Amino acid sequence: MSLSLPRINPTETSAWKQLIHHAQTLGDQRIQDLFKADPGRAERMSAEGAGWFLDYSKNLLDQHAFDDLLKLLDECGWEQALNATRKGGLINETENRAVLHTVLRDPGNTLQLVDGSQPGVQVSEVLNRMENFVEAVRNGQRRGCTGQAFTDVINLGIGGSDLGPLMACEALAPYAGSLRVHFVSNVDGAHWQRTLLGLNPETTLFLVASKTFTTQETMANAHSARNWFRQSLGERAEVRNHFVALSTNLEKVVEFGIDPENMFPFWDWVGGRYSLWSAIGMSLALSIGFPRFREFLEGGRQMDQHFWETPPARNLPVLLALVGLWNRNFLGMETLAVLPYDQCLSRFPAYLQQADMESNGKSVDRNGKPLNYQSGPVLWGEPGTNGQHAFYQLLHQGTVRVPCDFILAANTHYPGGPHHRFLSANAFAQAQALMQGRTLEEVRAVSSTPTNPAEAYQVFEGNRPSNFLLCQRLTPAALGALVALYEHKIWVQGVVWNVFSYDQWGVELGKILAGKVLPLLDEGTEGAGLGVDTSTQALVERWRRWQDGQERPKGT
Ligand code: F6P
Repeated sequence: MSLSLPRINPTETSAWKQLIHHAQTLGDQRIQDLFKADPGRAERMSAEGAGWFLDYSKNLLDQHAFDDLLKLLDECGWEQALNATRKGGLINETENRAVLHTVLRDPGNTLQLVDGSQPGVQVSEVLNRMENFVEAVRNGQRRGCTGQAFTDVINLGIGGSDLGPLMACEALAPYAGSLRVHFVSNVDGAHWQRTLLGLNPETTLFLVASKTFTTQETMANAHSARNWFRQSLGERAEVRNHFVALSTNLEKVVEFGIDPENMFPFWDWVGGRYSLWSAIGMSLALSIGFPRFREFLEGGRQMDQHFWETPPARNLPVLLALVGLWNRNFLGMETLAVLPYDQCLSRFPAYLQQADMESNGKSVDRNGKPLNYQSGPVLWGEPGTNGQHAFYQLLHQGTVRVPCDFILAANTHYPGGPHHRFLSANAFAQAQALMQGRTLEEVRAVSSTPTNPAEAYQVFEGNRPSNFLLCQRLTPAALGALVALYEHKIWVQGVVWNVFSYDQWGVELGKILAGKVLPLLDEGTEGAGLGVDTSTQALVERWRRWQDGQERPKGT
């Protein structure tokens, strides 16, 4: 079987046409009526794997549509795509790379690439080095240049070199040891300065996390951190003891002044937004310790096993993907809200934004042609119950329908009081309320007065779809499985949308233009010759006038 990806326009499949027809028929129906017609619906439209239970029954989806979604996957060349991925095909075609982040959580993997390298062996070696390093820092064997043990770790990275480890450190905070872990990503000086405030350079360890080691934001922060470190410690400053690199670019790491001994590599077959499992996970490992980090990897591996081995109709990532395709392409829903009912998952929606939107925010297909259908949705969210007091009004009564993913653990790490029961009841109730809604008759039935001027405003249309993901407890393994679940979901959707999910050319243009604007800030040279438009030129000029105080804002 070919090791390249299929190139099938999904709209040309017979399943797509059937699904349009189903959407028209189901468009007039209510999810609740589908439950009434099928008492076994909740059980049938749920599945379990790698410690997670998924209920997708609260979607406007019936068995006929579901069967055709499975057929769509098949007709879009799913088997070929799966085979190419697992066997190390260069499926990130526009960058000529394989996509093997799953090997990061499976060091026993025996795959051999065409160049003879064995990713499993490479992963294993780096994991062992990471383990020694993490243990030495955590037990105080490895110390700063003045002989003190480390108390604080700062991860300097952005995008995939920040969002994953930041999200995971938050999520697994109940497992954290005494090392305090901080993250600096934004090139805004406020970020590093506010983070370093109050830290002791003698006891601070810096992780410069960058796959390319050329990213402007990260390198600016790394240089500022190094300056701060040198200025603070003067002659006692030994960068060697305090700076570690997590990267694929040895040359640039050495150029920065980091000892290769302190570099933990990964490889070009690991995409930035899929790199949490690699050396980029160092901050997480330092926080929770290496045995827990291995449990996190193992949770991801278990979800991989579930994904590789379970038939599509019971396969969690496939199910989430198909339901998402249904809502996006056939019911016309443009966004997806991810709603973790778990404060520890507060950064999960932000993490997932990059994973999903950088992967499937594409408008050109694998034949180089513009898409004639919709691809990735806008993804957003906040932890419950905070979101309830912010944007749920729109979810319940707005003019757009927003499908929601609810995420909950049955047990909390923070027992005591009624909190977890309140939290859980709210999660279940919100999913129910979105589906059920409330009719005018129901409003009137509970009204205490015969005339209620607000009654029209108290009606909820309902029929708003959601998925519910439940685990027993948010352990390192459960988090690993959850992250892997969404990674695979994104990939399944990318296969059907016929896009290249593993590149991100869309982030390039802004970087190039920032390079052109930068000299204008200093010199105020005429921008037209540099391709800078007159609006941008005028903004830059005002910025310059306001900066040097030549001019004051009107009304001040
Ligand atoms: O946002 C673009 C991007 O290339 C991401 O894909 C990546 O995660 C991020 O920049 C950071 O890149 P690096 O790890 O090379 O600094």
